[in-house]
Amino acid sequence: MIGDIRETKECQLKDPMDLFHSGQVVKICAPMVRYSKLAFRTLVRKYSCDLCYTPMIVAADFVRSAKARDSEFTTNKGGIDLNCGCPQRWAISEGYGACLINKPELVKDMVRHVRSQIDNPNFSVSIKIRIHEDLKRTVDLCQKAEAAGVSWITVHGRSIEERHQPVHYDAIKIIKQSMSIPVVANGDIKTLRDAEKVHHLTEADGIMVARGLLANPAMFAGYEETPFQCIQDWVDIALEHGTPFTCFHHHLMYMMERITSKQEKKVFNVLSSTSAVLDYLNDHYGVW
Ligand SMILES: Cc1cc2nc3c(=O)[nH]c(=O)nc-3n(C[C@H](O)[C@H](O)[C@H](O)COP(=O)(O)O)c2cc1C
Repeated sequence: MIGDIRETKECQLKDPMDLFHSGQVVKICAPMVRYSKLAFRTLVRKYSCDLCYTPMIVAADFVRSAKARDSEFTTNKGGIDLNCGCPQRWAISEGYGACLINKPELVKDMVRHVRSQIDNPNFSVSIKIRIHEDLKRTVDLCQKAEAAGVSWITVHGRSIEERHQPVHYDAIKIIKQSMSIPVVANGDIKTLRDAEKVHHLTEADGIMVARGLLANPAMFAGYEETPFQCIQDWVDIALEHGTPFTCFHHHLMYMMERITSKQEKKVFNVLSSTSAVLDYLNDHYGVW
């Protein structure tokens, strides 16, 4: 089984379901392998993100390896999400991720099993899926998961085969209309305006963003591009969390992609130490 752990903005204090019951569209940072780690989640929460997912965790590795636990399990008591959306070949061949959308009975059993292991009936268990070409199969999957007690469903509006094709927001709307539990829309949302548009198109209860938040972690707060303050916050938070250099640097490359010239990128992207990055930022922005 593979899944992600979720945290709310007020982490220990708030049940994620309270967010869905608040009547506001819930703004969510997607699970991202190598990226949605605790430091980044702390950053996006500072900029109006309500709910964050850890990267995908492979349960077998998690049980077997202390290294995997230390690397991935930087979290709190939020809840569990079952990953039925990862389209990568290795995951599919192991029977993980998006291939689970073709095994509704198994998904149902897994949701029931997670529920039966945890005494607290309010502990949230969600699933994240892709859609089938035949949407009836997706609706059937979602209804089975709902009957098994899933708390909400996130839908990346593409099929397993689709990569860059337009997202099927109409399909997300049909799924939403077929369910009583909350539905979260995901795919190609890059700005707060996109989020509002997708909410309007799908009537989804929440909006999940991956790449848009990598490029601009402040997007949910309404910024069109990464503000300098956010870069400064990232440096502070990442250093505080002891973030490994590669992760620290990669996030900065994403955040600065739209606000630096080609020439500047050539210099910045090959820097190889935290001190070189800090010197660069100091020279160019004079804030460190
Ligand atoms: C770098 C990266 C890592 C990802 N890792 C995961 C993951 O661990 N689990 C998962 O369910 N989806 C993962 N995804 C998929 C995203 O959660 C999301 O469904 C997809 O990128 C579409 O959203 P977007 O258009 O906002 O990027 C990842 C995507 C990216 C770009």
